[in-house]
Amino acid sequence: MAETENDSRHRIAVLISGRGSNLQAILDAIAARRLDAAIAIVVSNRADAPGLERAREAGVEAICLVPSDYADRDAYDRGLVEVLRAREVGLICLAGYMRLVGSRLLEAFPNRVLNVHPSLLPAFPGLEAQRQAFEHGVRVTGATVHFVTAGLDDGPIILQAAVPVLDSDSVETLSARILVEEHRIYPEAIQIALDGEWTIDGRRFVRTRRAGV
Ligand code: GRF
Repeated sequence: MAETENDSRHRIAVLISGRGSNLQAILDAIAARRLDAAIAIVVSNRADAPGLERAREAGVEAICLVPSDYADRDAYDRGLVEVLRAREVGLICLAGYMRLVGSRLLEAFPNRVLNVHPSLLPAFPGLEAQRQAFEHGVRVTGATVHFVTAGLDDGPIILQAAVPVLDSDSVETLSARILVEEHRIYPEAIQIALDGEWTIDGRRFVRTRRAGV
């Protein structure tokens, strides 16, 4: 474990705003050795985010950066970058982080910010994606892990998982099944991103690992 913690390639940060079930899935995957990474820090923009406690229970440093303590978005993002650089993180995972990420953070960590979104992007970006899909009447929706870019839920896609919409579904039952898939594919996508054998070709995330290796 000490070896992993000293390896900057595998030091990740998780940014949250709420319950932190995706954070928990990442913690569990690390504990089960399905994910070769160490969470160097969890940052929330809300002091009451239950995810902060999950992190502390797992022995992970967890802090809150309150937006009202900063003059504007840029000052907030500068503070965030400073915190992340000080922990030498190599990848930043947004997990229910309900705040737009500014160019300051994206420029400091190019192609190193991931997000999980509860729909099959590019369908239903933005808030309440599960409800959007349900009300639209699609028969299949799902979950997406993608790189974060300046566009809303718009970056290159690493992994997706499909979830059928059942006639008997409510927004709640559908959301619960999507969440199971989020928890499955997020740690897997983080491992893929950390492994590093990939390139971005236009909008496409392409793995370059040689066959049989
Ligand atoms: C998840 O559905 C995620 O896709 C979305 O916000 C929710 C966060 O849930 N961006 P949690 O805080 O990880 O439990």
